[in-house]
Order: sequence, then structure tokens, then C-alpha cells
Amino acid sequence: MTKILLSGASGHMGKAVARVCRETAAVDIAAGYDINTASDCGFPVYSSFADIKEEFDVIIDFSHPSAFDGIIDYVAETKTPAVICTTGLSDEQRARMNEAAKTAPIFFSANMSIGINLLIDLACKAAKLLDGGFDIEIVEKHHNRKLDAPSGTALAIADALSEVVSYNPEYTYDRHSVRRKRGKTEIGIHSVRGGTIVGEHDVIFAGTDEVIELKHSAASKEVFAVGAVKAAAFMNGKSAGMYNMKDLIENSK
Ligand SMILES: NC(=O)c1ccc[n+]([C@@H]2O[C@H](COP(=O)([O-])OP(=O)(O)OC[C@H]3O[C@@H](n4cnc5c(N)ncnc54)[C@H](O)[C@@H]3O)[C@@H](O)[C@H]2O)c1
Repeated sequence: MTKILLSGASGHMGKAVARVCRETAAVDIAAGYDINTASDCGFPVYSSFADIKEEFDVIIDFSHPSAFDGIIDYVAETKTPAVICTTGLSDEQRARMNEAAKTAPIFFSANMSIGINLLIDLACKAAKLLDGGFDIEIVEKHHNRKLDAPSGTALAIADALSEVVSYNPEYTYDRHSVRRKRGKTEIGIHSVRGGTIVGEHDVIFAGTDEVIELKHSAASKEVFAVGAVKAAAFMNGKSAGMYNMKDLIENSK
């Protein structure tokens, strides 16, 4: 049994993680951590680490960058394994996380969906095989409330592909401002915004007379919660170091 401290317990993702934990026999939420302690989670929620009385094995964090420094201080001090899912961390915070991982086990992924990480893995395999002969384009779609474009995940896919192809890719965002023939070393990245689309990512390999598409669609936030809970069980008892979804997928093969 993995006992979890849920940071951001009162938020949308915190509630999704709590739902997934209720349905997963091998994990249980010991307590929550959130500046909003008012919501009725079914477990105690604290606004300070010092007040937490319950014992726990792993921290899952879906909160806010403003909570990060306190969490990472606690992790560095106690060596408690942590699954950090909060996005929008500064470069300085990412550096602090890497530093803390020298003495504590830390899992980080900007996209906790197992499916998206499998998509990245498959796309890298395809890019290696098709190297240079196929044009790569990435199309992402999200709801009309999303502020940033392209999505961090689209960029993560492009970055992963860049590491495996033999050339140094140039990212081309949309194409309305570019009037030239497509270059062989481009990776095109395009954003669509509308309605309530949770998140779609499509990686297109377009060659001569044939096209291969790898596509992932998320229908709810639950997929991120499922990935985080799996990651927490995976991190229980791990030694110090930086872990990510690739490690989790490798482990479940
Ligand atoms: N890695 C992933 O796959 C993934 C997926 C979805 C969301 N996220 C990220 O998870 C985070 C939370 O998303 P959400 O949709 O649940 O947001 P949300 O706003 O619904 O919830 C955030 C929670 O954190 C709490 N909080 C804010 N500041 C805090 C602080 N300083 N100390 C303690 N608690 C604090 C809030 O009270 C709130 O309950 C965001 O950064 C989001 O981008 C990551």
C-alpha cells in the first residue's frame, strides 16, 4: 500500500487524483496539502507541512508554482519521494528540483498521461526509422480557455523528436507568416483552440505518396490523475534521482 500526501488536494486535479485513489486498491491518500483547506475531501487537508500528523510514503503535487519552494524544501530535507505534476515552474525552480534529486527521488512530467508518453516513444521510433525522408508536422488541439500556444506537450514531442533525428530541426509555428517552400529540416507545430477539447496531439510523418499519423486524444483530466497515481506507486521505495514517464513505461513493459 502506498500512502500519499496530495498537494493541491482542493483543486481540479487534486479531486481527480482522489477519485482515482478511491478506485485503486494499492494506494490511499493519507492527507492533503493546500492553501484552501475548506473543501470536504474525506481526508485531512493542511496548509502547512509542519502540521501534517499522518505518515505518508510519496507526495503527489498538482498545485501551483507558488507552492513549489516549500514542497521541494520538504522533499530535500526528508528525502520523501515526490511526483511533481505542477507546470509553469521557472528555470530556477527546475534547477532546484534537479539539485534536490541528487539526494531525494523525484518524478517530473509536464504531461502525466501514459498515452501521451507512449505516443512520444512511438513517434521517436518512427522518426528514427523514417529519418529525413518524411516531413514531420505536429498539430495540437485544446479548449477555448487555454492561454498558451503551442501546448507544452507539443513542444515536448518536438524536443523528443529533435533528439533522435540526424539533423538539427527548426520549429515552424503555424504557417500564415511564412511564404516559402517547406524546408526539409523543419518540424511544423500548429495549434487549434475551440470548445471543450481536453487535449489532442497528432504527429504527422508525410512522405512521398504515404502518410503516417500517430494521434492521442484525452477525453478527461482523469488520464493525468491515473498517470500520477501509477507514478506514485512506482516511486515508493525508489532511491534518489530524477525519474520521468519513460522510466514508468519501461518499468511496465
Ligand atoms: N503534469 C500534468 O500532466 C498536468 C495535468 C493537468 C494539470 N497540471 C498542472 O497541475 C496544476 C494544478 O492544476 P489544476 O487544474 O488542479 O489547478 P487548480 O487551480 O484547480 O488547483 C490548484 C490547487 O492548488 C492550490 N494552491 C495554489 N497555490 C498554492 C500554494 N501556494 N500552496 C498550496 N496550495 C496551493 C489551490 O488552492 C488549488 O486547490 C497546474 O500547474 C496544472 O498546469 C499538470
